[in-house]
Parts: sequence; structure tokens; C-alpha cells
Amino acid sequence: MHILIIGGGGREHTLAWKIAQSPKVTGLYVAPGNAGTVQIAQNLDIPPTDIEALAKACQDMGIDLTIVGPEAPLAAGIVDHFTASGLPIFGPTRAAARIESSKVFAKQLMQKHGIPCPNGAIFTNYRQARGYLEAQSTPIVVKADGLAAGKGVTVAMSKEEARQALSAIMETKVFGAAGNSVIIEECIAGREVSLLAFTDGNTVIPMVPACDYKRAFDSDQGTNTGGMGSYSPPGFFDAALTKQVIKTILKPTVKAMAKEGAPYKGVLYAGLMLAADGPKVLEFNARFGDPETQVILPRLKSDLVDIILDIIDNRLHETPVEWNDDACMGVVMASGGYPGDYKTGFAIQGLDKVDPEIMIFHAGTKQGENSQICTDGGRVLTVTACGKNMAEAREKVYQNITHIYFKDCHYRKDIAAREVK
Ligand code: GLY
Repeated sequence: MHILIIGGGGREHTLAWKIAQSPKVTGLYVAPGNAGTVQIAQNLDIPPTDIEALAKACQDMGIDLTIVGPEAPLAAGIVDHFTASGLPIFGPTRAAARIESSKVFAKQLMQKHGIPCPNGAIFTNYRQARGYLEAQSTPIVVKADGLAAGKGVTVAMSKEEARQALSAIMETKVFGAAGNSVIIEECIAGREVSLLAFTDGNTVIPMVPACDYKRAFDSDQGTNTGGMGSYSPPGFFDAALTKQVIKTILKPTVKAMAKEGAPYKGVLYAGLMLAADGPKVLEFNARFGDPETQVILPRLKSDLVDIILDIIDNRLHETPVEWNDDACMGVVMASGGYPGDYKTGFAIQGLDKVDPEIMIFHAGTKQGENSQICTDGGRVLTVTACGKNMAEAREKVYQNITHIYFKDCHYRKDIAAREVK
């Protein structure tokens, strides 16, 4: 099979790494990819949202299967377009991807179908939203409806912070039309965990749980990022909790989507808060998580291509999905200044100095002159390792990461630390 992966981050390098292990694969392409994917696949210089150009490349090159990494092409309807053109593709349709591209859609779905989530109210009018906000206590959560590159959610500790977030979304329109509606919801305390699942619209098979770290610096200081590291499994999330989430959240959501006329196929990502009265959905994503994928796929024993083909053919109930018992953790090396302004083009040294078992998943990297790999984005690499327990995986990552260097690099030193205390 010739397979195309759309995207160019750490998630897509990890997908390419896993897909390349399938005996079914004879040709692997990534659009646009990065300096890591080019070592195991052919990069195509096509942006993820140029759906026409991607479809034409698939037709011209005889691609048998396309796998979509990021949310933007899903929200733009790439699955609908490819399917109408007879091109096999893995991911939810545009209507189904609203579970991520519209937080209002997701909230209404959960409220209507009794799927546990924080209490919240939806507004399209700034004055009404502001009036409601004044009557609430803090902390309080303010969410823009649409896609906002991970920046659309503010957990406000004070009323003033919440007012500013609301005004930025609805008055200043910092996220454009994504801020035409907002959700103001209660802030619930607990531990956060990501549980992703494969689904063909009927069968739901969970992946192993994972945790990610959104803040830029140790001890959850600094601003939110795309994710600075992740690990799997979290010791506090046991098999019984997974069962509970399948029963109360994942299966009811897939059923609800079908009832709403938007059958869901692909990866369903539930961002959960383990509240005192049970797990609740903070957000849904319509795709693999980043950087969760970097620590989930190394634990998948089964062939990912088989799973994906069975989902497309509505045969997931026949598919064995097996996981290993390893602990896996990954630390993101980021450009100085990220998630704010940062410079790129710095040579990355020492990639050849790390132990062979260390997995280095590239994100913002490109090959410069003389094949030198250089920085080309905010998040640059996820340095990942597995071990028989989390202490071993951490030791491997933090020992090897010291061999890698690029100017102004920063990374968190506390990824998965709470698991080994
Ligand atoms: N790790 C969060 C996300 O993928 O959206």
C-alpha cells in the first residue's frame, strides 16, 4: 500500500514511524512532514489545508490510504472531499469533526445526551455573557467556540481575568469568527487525563491513557503551549476507570453523534477531568493528540494500518488491538521564547549521540545546507523512551536529552515526575 500522512508535527512523525512498521506498506508519504519524517518517508510540499492539491497528489501518485493528523483539514471537510472523489481516508467527516471544531456543538451534544461535563452556559451576545459572568464565582472557565490553535480556553482565577478573556474573544475578536459564541463554565478540580479511542461508529476500542503537560515551564508555570511532554500510563487511571469512561462517555458520545446525523469514524479524543463525582469531559478532539501520540503509539503492539483499514470498512469489532505493558514518556524540546516569539534556523547538534533505543520524534525541524538538521518551529523534538516502569523511561529520556543541543532550547524537567515520587 502507498500511504499518505497529512501534517508536519511530532504526532505525524510518530504516525509515520508506526505506519512504516506495517508489512502492508510499500510507499509512505507525509505532507508537508519535517526533517524526521523524510528519514522514513517522502515529504510532499503541500500544506495540510490545501485539500484540492492533496487529493490531486493522491490521484496522481496512486495513494491507497490517507491518514489525517491535524484538526484544520478535518474541520475544512477533507474527509468528505476525498470520500466523494473515491479516495480512501481515515478521519471524521466535517460534520463529525464539529465535536472539536465547535465547542458549542460539543457542549450541546453532551447536555442533550447526558454525557458528563462541567455545567456551563452558551452565549452569542457579549452583554448577556458579561451579565452571566458577573453572577458567577471564580475560578471560572471561558471558552471560544471555534478552533483557536489551543489558545481559546482561559481558566480565569479572578473575575477581571475572565472579563478580559471574554472581551478578547467576543469584542476584540482575537480568534476571529471562532469567537462568535462562547461557553462560560464551572472550573472543576481534579486530575486531567486524555483517553483516546478508535471507533468505526459502532465499536469503540480505547487506547492506553496518557497525560500531557500544557504549561511552558516546570511546576505548571508559564503560559499554555501545544504540549511540553506526556507519559503513559498514568498510575492513577486504572482499568476500572477506563471501563467507566467507555461506558459513560465514549460509547454514549459515538451513539449520540449517529443520532444527530453525524456518524463518527476515526480517533475520538476525550480530554477528561477526574472530578470527585466521576470523570467529566473538558474537551473532545477529532484526532490523535500531540504530544500524547508520541507516548501512546510506542505501546501499540498491533498493526495500525490494520486497525485503520478495519475502521474504514466498519469491521472494528473483528480487530485485535493489543498494547504492551511498558511505561513510555516524552519530553518536548522547544525553541527559546516558545510559545511566544522565537527564532528558527539553529543547527540541532547531538542527534547521533543518543542511545539507539531513544525515539526522537521531530516537529519543527528542517534539513538545511549540507543536510544539517535545523530548528523550524516552536516545538522542535519530542525525545521519547519506554521502560519497564516510569522511573526507567524517565531516566533514559533525561539522560539522553543532555546530548542534544540547539541555541536557546528549553524543556521541562518534571515530565512524569509525579509518577515516580
Ligand atoms: N494534547 C492536546 C491536543 O492534542 O490537543
